[in-house]
Amino acid sequence: MARAIAEGAQNTSEVTVEVKRHRSPWGLDSFDAIVVGAPTYQHTMTNSIEKFLEDVAFHNVNLKGKIGAAFGSYGWSGEAPGMVLEVMVNKFEMKVLKPPLLIKYKPDEKGLAECRNLGKTVAEQIQKRY
Ligand SMILES: Cc1cc2nc3c(=O)[nH]c(=O)nc-3n(C[C@H](O)[C@H](O)[C@H](O)COP(=O)(O)O)c2cc1C
Repeated sequence: MARAIAEGAQNTSEVTVEVKRHRSPWGLDSFDAIVVGAPTYQHTMTNSIEKFLEDVAFHNVNLKGKIGAAFGSYGWSGEAPGMVLEVMVNKFEMKVLKPPLLIKYKPDEKGLAECRNLGKTVAEQIQKRY
């Protein structure tokens, strides 16, 4: 999903995309947009995503006004990406794209197209700012 989102952003614009499995909070403030992938386990986000968000908050990385989006694979309830958006809005004061992108288990061709489309939308939002 992350790769398809990156592809969608890069295909349609001149934005530069970094895709990371584990991203440290350092330097995040130099990005225009942050897209977080969060699968749902036990009705919540995983420890690694929670820790990432806590690290950003703990180190006071300033994300105010940046574009945020969230996506995730899920099985039956899919709460995690929505929870990430809540943190982005309420804790980091980011401007988020809603709704989050949820894909059941594994993206098929239609799901991958939705991912590319999210990337395109994020890139368009960035370009609107310049
Ligand atoms: C132990 C376990 C707990 C899960 N809990 C939930 C859940 O509460 N809600 C849900 O929608 N999916 C749940 N799932 C399904 C996962 O979200 C789904 O398998 C998803 O594709 C995992 O994404 P990942 O491969 O990127 O980790 C659970 C799966 C496992 C193995």
